[in-house]
This record gives sequence, C-alpha cells and structure tokens, in this order.
Amino acid sequence: MKFPKGLLNALLLQLLLLQISTALDTISFDQSIKDGEFLISKNETFVLGFFSPGTSSNRYVGIWYKFSDDMVVWVANRDNPVNDTTGILTLGSDGNLVLLRNNSLGLPLWSTSVSVSSSSKNTIAAQLLDSGNFVLVQQESQNVLWQSSDHPTHILLASMKIGLDRKRGIDRYMTSWNSNNDPGTGNCSLRMEPNGSPQLILYKNEAKLWRSGQWNGIQWGGIPGMTPNNVFSISFINNQDEVTVTWKVLDPSIFSVITVDGSGQIQQLIWQGQQQGWVAVWSDPIDACDRYGKCGPFGNCDPYTVSGFNCTCFPGYEPNSPQDWDIRDGSGGCKRQEGSISMCRNGEGFVKMDHVKVPDTSAIKLERSLSLEACEKECLSNCSCLAYAVADVRNGGSGCMTWYGDLMDTKQFTEGGEALYVRADALVSAQYTKKSGGDSSANNKRLAIILGVSISVTSFLIIAVLCWFKRRRNKGRREQPKLLNDIASGSRSREDLPIENDVDEQRGKADLPFFYLSTIVEATEEFSSANMLGHGGFGIVYKGSLPDGQEIAVKRLSRNSGQGVEEFKNEVKLIAKLQHRNLVRLFGCCIDKEERMLIYEYMPNRSLDLFIFDKNKRSLLDWGKRFQIIIGIARGVLYLHQDSRLKIIHRDLKASNVLLDSSMNPKISDFGMARMFGDDQIEANTNRVVGTYGYMSPEYAMDGLYSTKSDVFSFGVLALEIICGKKNNFQFEDSYLNLVGQLWDLWIEGKALDIVDSSLGQSYPTHEVMRCIQIGLLCVQENAIDRPTMLDVVFMLGNETTLLRPKKAAFSFKNSAPDSSTSRGASSVNDVTVTVIEAR
Ligand SMILES: *[C@@H]1O[C@H](CO)[C@@H](O)[C@H](O)[C@H]1NC(C)=O
Ligand SMILES: *[C@@H]1O[C@H](CO)[C@@H](O)[C@H](O)[C@H]1NC(C)=O
Ligand SMILES: *[C@@H]1O[C@H](CO)[C@@H](O)[C@H](O)[C@H]1NC(C)=O
Ligand SMILES: *[C@@H]1O[C@H](CO)[C@@H](O)[C@H](O)[C@H]1NC(C)=O
Ligand SMILES: *[C@@H]1O[C@H](CO)[C@@H](O)[C@H](O)[C@H]1NC(C)=O
Ligand SMILES: *[C@@H]1O[C@H](CO)[C@@H](O)[C@H](O)[C@H]1NC(C)=O
Repeated sequence: MKFPKGLLNALLLQLLLLQISTALDTISFDQSIKDGEFLISKNETFVLGFFSPGTSSNRYVGIWYKFSDDMVVWVANRDNPVNDTTGILTLGSDGNLVLLRNNSLGLPLWSTSVSVSSSSKNTIAAQLLDSGNFVLVQQESQNVLWQSSDHPTHILLASMKIGLDRKRGIDRYMTSWNSNNDPGTGNCSLRMEPNGSPQLILYKNEAKLWRSGQWNGIQWGGIPGMTPNNVFSISFINNQDEVTVTWKVLDPSIFSVITVDGSGQIQQLIWQGQQQGWVAVWSDPIDACDRYGKCGPFGNCDPYTVSGFNCTCFPGYEPNSPQDWDIRDGSGGCKRQEGSISMCRNGEGFVKMDHVKVPDTSAIKLERSLSLEACEKECLSNCSCLAYAVADVRNGGSGCMTWYGDLMDTKQFTEGGEALYVRADALVSAQYTKKSGGDSSANNKRLAIILGVSISVTSFLIIAVLCWFKRRRNKGRREQPKLLNDIASGSRSREDLPIENDVDEQRGKADLPFFYLSTIVEATEEFSSANMLGHGGFGIVYKGSLPDGQEIAVKRLSRNSGQGVEEFKNEVKLIAKLQHRNLVRLFGCCIDKEERMLIYEYMPNRSLDLFIFDKNKRSLLDWGKRFQIIIGIARGVLYLHQDSRLKIIHRDLKASNVLLDSSMNPKISDFGMARMFGDDQIEANTNRVVGTYGYMSPEYAMDGLYSTKSDVFSFGVLALEIICGKKNNFQFEDSYLNLVGQLWDLWIEGKALDIVDSSLGQSYPTHEVMRCIQIGLLCVQENAIDRPTMLDVVFMLGNETTLLRPKKAAFSFKNSAPDSSTSRGASSVNDVTVTVIEAR
C-alpha cells in the first residue's frame, strides 16, 4: 500500500507530537492537541492545555503558569465548555484554530475565526510565546493573524494592551470570571473609554463602578500614588491608530498579573514563591469615594472626613436633597445654591479645587493646544462651560478640558491629583478669593493633611519596592539594587555626585553637611530590611552606622516631592540650624538624582508610643518621667513656634514622632517636614492615617486650616495620652472610644482620675496630675481661639497659677455649657493665622 508522501509525513509528525508533546510550543497546520496534551512555551513559563477550574468537571482550553497551575491567565472557550475529555484543539483545514469534540459533527465549541487566504493556510502555525501570548502566525511573512492577547479574559499580563485598535476595530477589555468554578464571561469588566480624555472604567454590567481618572501625561489622575517607579512602568498611547495602555515589569525575574474579579476589584498580584503564592500589591477601588458617582453630580467625595460623611458640594452648590444628606446619602448630588446670581457675563470667576480626581472626562471638550490661561478664557467665553482643567500636567501644564453637563465622580485627595477650576458667580468667587487670603488661586481648602495617597497605592509602592529588594538580596550580594547600580558599578564616579563635601570632613562644621550616597548605602548595609526602623508618611527610616562608629537614623524620603535640588538644600540648611534639646538633631542630608535622604542622630529608645501604649513597657515611665516628657515636648514645640528663627508649625505631632534618648528625654522628630515638602507633599501610609487622625484639630481636619493652635491641639491629645497610657483612637460614632471624649465626660462628672494609667499605681501626686489633665483639656478645646498658646502651656506646666475652666472638648458630645454649641467650621477659626510658616 502506498501513502502519498505528504500524508505520511503528517502522520509521522502527529505520532511525534503524541510522544513529546510536552516539549513543544507550536501546533502546525493540520495538527492538534487532545485533552491531556500540552504546549509549553520555550523557557517553560507558560502552559497551554485543557483544564477544569475549581470543582467543575467541565473542560476548558487555557493558558497558565507552569509553576502555578491555578493561575489561569487566559481561557479560549470560556462560555462553551467541553462536557467530557474528548476535546481537541486543531489547526483546522481553513487555517483557523478550532476546538472540537472528537467524533462530533456539531459546530466547533470555539474558533479563532479569522479569514485566511487559501494559498497560505498550510504555512500557518500557532505558537505559545514566553510572554504568555498564543499567536497564530503566517510563518513566511511572520504575519500575526490572531493572538490571544487581543482577547483578554480576566487577566492582563505585562505588555498586553487594553483599549481600542482603531485600524482593526478591536476593543480589548478585561472581563471577570463568573466564579472560581466557571471562567464564563462575568459581570465586571475593565474598559478603555476613548471619548473626551481617555480613562479606564470598571463596569458591573452596564453600570460604572470605578474610574481611573484621565491620563494626565504621567499617570492616571485618579491613582495619584501610582507614580513612575523602578519596578513597573505604564505606557499610554493615544493617536489616530489606537487608544491603549500597557504595563511592563522592569525586572524580568518578577512575575506579576493584573486581575479583575467578579466582586469588582482590580488587583495587581506578584508571585512570591511557592510558599506565599500570589500576593496582592495594589487594588482598586479601595474606599467609599472610589465608587462611581458616590456624591452625585457637583458633589466632591472626601474619604477622610472626620464626620464619616464623605460628600461636600462644589463651591456655590448645595445638596439637591438635604434630607438625603442628613441620612448620609450623597448620591443625589448638588445644585446651584438657591438665590445665586447668574454666571453668564456677570462678573463670574473660577474657584480652584486642588488635589482632586477631576470629574468624568468622557463628555468633555478637549483642546490639546491651549494653555491654562487660554483655557480659562475659553471656558469663560461660553456660558454653558461649568469647569475647566489642564489635560497634561507635564511641563507646567497644557491642553484644555472644559465641562458642560453634570460634573460626576469627583474625589478629594490630600496630595497628588489635579486642579479643577469650577465656574462660580461673582459672589461665590469673591468669597473664596477672600478666604484664601487674597491668593487668587483660591486654594483655600487644602486638606494638606497626612492622609495623602490612597492607602492601597502607597502600600503598593512600598511592598513592590520591598519585595523587589528582597528578591535582589536573595540573588546574592553580587548584584546591587538597581537604584544604586550605577554608582556601585562605577559607571558614575564620586566626582559626578552633585555635592562634593563628604560628611567625614563636614560633620560638626555645622554649615551644610552632605553625605555621599555610597556612605549611606554602606552605613545601612544597602538599606537592608534588618536595619529598617519603621516607615512614616515621608518615607522609610533605616538605622545606620558610619565608619567612625557614629550611629545614625536615615530617613529615605518618598519620591516625587516635586522640589528642586536647590530648594531642598536650602530647606535642609535652615532646618539643620534648628537646635534644641527637645528636637532630634539633623546631621545632614544626601541627594542623588531622585534620592533624598535626611540623616539624624539615632535614638536608642526609639519612640514614645512604644512605651506609653505598650502594656509591659508602660510601667517603665513613672509619673515623674512622664511629667518631664510632657514639659520637654511643650518646650520643643514652643521653640518651633516661637523661639526659632523660622516659625514652624509641626502639623504631625504624635507619640510616634516623639523619640526618646538614652535618659528618656523626649526629642521631637519630623519637624520642618511640612516646610520642606510644602503643603501638598505630605505622603501617607496606613499607620499614619489611623495614627494621626486622633491628633487633628477640628478646623484642620475639616477645613484644612492649620495654625500654631492646631499644634497646641495635638500637644493636648499627646499629653492626655501620656497621662492615661491610651491611644486617642478616633471614632466619631462613639465618643466613648475616643480618649478625649471619654476624658471630657469624666471631667464633667469630676471623675477624671478614673482614667489615669493604672500602671502608675497610687504613687502619683493627684494635684499635679489633675492640673496636667486640665491643661490638656484646655489644649483640645473645640474653638482654636480658646486654646492657650504654647508659651501659656509651658508657663502653666511650670507654675502654680490658677487655670481656666476648659470649654467643650472637640469631638465630644456632652456639652458643658450652652455657649459651647458653636458649630465647628471656618467661622470659629477666622481669627487664627492660616499661614503655615512665616519667615521672621
Ligand atoms: C455533552 O454535550 C453534548 C452536546 O454538546 C451532548 O450531546 C452530550 O449528551 C453531553 N454529554 C454529557 C455527559 O452531558
Ligand atoms: C477520536 O476518537 C477515536 C475513537 O474514540 C480515536 O481512535 C481517535 O484517535 C480520536 N482522535 C483524536 C484526534 O484524538
Ligand atoms: C521567559 O520569558 C519571559 C518573556 O521573555 C520572561 O519574562 C521570563 O522571565 C522568562 N522566564 C524564565 C524562567 O526564564
Ligand atoms: C450578573 O448580573 C446578572 C444580572 O444582573 C445576575 O443575574 C447574575 O447573577 C450576575 N452574575 C454574577 C456572577 O454575579
Ligand atoms: C466615607 O468614607 C470612608 C472611607 O472610605 C468610609 O469608611 C465611610 O463608610 C464613608 N462614609 C459613608 C457615609 O459612606
Ligand atoms: C458652548 O459650548 C457647547 C459645547 O461645546 C457648544 O455646544 C455651544 O455651541 C457653545 N456655545 C457658544 C455660544 O459658543
């Protein structure tokens, strides 16, 4: 019997395929894989084959990681499972990949469905690439006819695109699985909205759930913490061919995916080895304000309000339905204020809302060539224009976005975000201009506080960087972290460094002590995690040891402070000159490219919170020590407010910012940080959000107004914490959970001593403790004008003067006297300086 030669070859190949199918990454024309056979990518990262998800017995064709077969990154027949194990994936006679059941005459369960010219179909092959992409290629021309990355399921791998290919008419978007047992098309999808200024939008069915904000030239405007970094990069393309976004992992040894799940969460996962598996490093939406339209049209959502209600109206607007707002439902949004005057050629202006996720940009008008000034004119000239903003924040800002309809889904950030200019009638805009102290930009409402970048994003960066460091270290000392590579490898000499003076010559000479990066790298053992002392809002702190044995604490500042090298140097010089026995000594700093570090004296006893909030260590501080600590802190703050050449408002006074030297003398740290970073630059992490909340004065928390009196407030809280050995956990709902409220109630009942730290035993002078409580309560009074100055405080602590009776404490509910019902808000603090720091 004679076989045609071609057929014989094909048969042989088929046999071969059965034998060693595990080693192949390609199916050629007329070949197939059966259930139980696999394709494996060249470097063995990905596998393609049949699988059953979870507890299901259905069979699907999918791609997964070889080292982690539960991470299925793509599914072919997600809505058409094979109900037995007879499935066959074939490169069929028409040049398409098709999924069939053996011996079944039915329609294919799945097919690539591209049109292939008949002349070229036997030169077609399907290959599983190392990137996880499954491609159908015309081998001679290397023409890609179809690829799995154009049809994402619930996972986005690095270098896969989301968005519109305008030439081919493909819209790539991610869709969740139905459940862990069913990869079928689910209800949540992440899509590119190409209209207006493009944004990523997460949908649940047809409803918008979350919005990334527009691409502002550097990043998504609604994810302010996801700034360019050394671990991942994001690139956005918008031209006549496509509107797409892709991301990349810069270190090829990191495996990472982005997923969308059925509950409407987007997550980025990193592979952390067999033991830990996939660990989430970023996820969105994360807080109530991420929910699309939470505060309705013309509403602004602030996740960190003290009252727990997150919605406010735009300047000049008021709630559509005050009743709903009373029951904390802001979704009805806002309307122009009753009785407001015309905003059409009637002296109207714009009020700046800073650090916001600008409203939905899908229906805006976008003009790329206009500057900010021209944009204002453009908006002013059309009476239907309700707001404008810069589209691209690079190079000082360019591109003009103007809004005409309802302004939906605005979110307040404490840092980052963009500025939105809202049209307001003559009256309102005059009000806001005045409020901001004559500053025409009307940036009155800067909640410049602590809370900063959304929690997830900050931890994303920290974790990403940490695990990346860990990996590096695991690979052995030979390899230095990339950040430091060019110095370590000698591709940059010491002479290239911007600053010449080494500390060894300079330390002690007072003027401007600069350290080399290499010195710090060595001192901290390459920022080893073993040397990490903690992380605060401004960055991570490491312990280090200089060659001469001097111990130091290195604060490695978070990036993107936006401040120039010269400005930063000047600030450090100024701050370094502040010297007081109750302030931590700043030895100097280190600047290298993006790196900014501050070098402090090292405090062996770490920080006060480790003592007063620790049930064992608490007893190490008797009343005498505590009183000395309270006085020391008061003196340190007074020096900042009054005695130093610069008037400095600390703005983040709290137990963890008070360090203790070897004799338990208190030393304030992080002073001058607000100054060094400017209002806008204070970053945050989870601890800080929680930790600092309890120390915030009402006018600061609600209106962003800070003054020396806000520091007095924080000092009061701190003093009361030291006396009671308890944290002032802030809980609006229940004043009994917040120390200040609780203490206030007991004070009124004359039982304040009940709450004094029990570890003090009975061995304290009742009179002195009562006096300190009273001084503390005077500092936390609701109205800033009622609070004493720091000078008063130091005086009261040191002398037996008669003390005033404190009025109602902020955030407490029991009133002491009728006069204390004054509402919180701007009116109560009008007399207080709104300036942070004034040069003297
Ligand atoms: C599997 O599905 C086919 C049709 O798609 C059907 O004819 C067959 O009975 C099913 N088998 C089982 C075991 O359900
Ligand atoms: C289809 O099934 C038949 C009989 O069950 C078997 O002999 C044949 O090898 C199968 N074909 C493929 C391509 O697996
Ligand atoms: C395999 O190739 C991919 C893409 O080129 C790369 O990201 C990955 O690190 C490689 N994996 C291994 C184990 O070499
Ligand atoms: C998806 O939405 C539909 C319609 O709202 C609902 O019936 C279905 O249960 C949802 N499916 C999942 C997996 O949530
Ligand atoms: C306001 O936002 C916070 C933070 O996301 C959230 O915990 C709180 O429940 C929100 N308040 C309301 C009334 O939704
Ligand atoms: C104002 O802008 C809107 C939206 O672009 C446009 O439809 C309208 O014609 C403009 N009106 C005037 C007077 O230019």
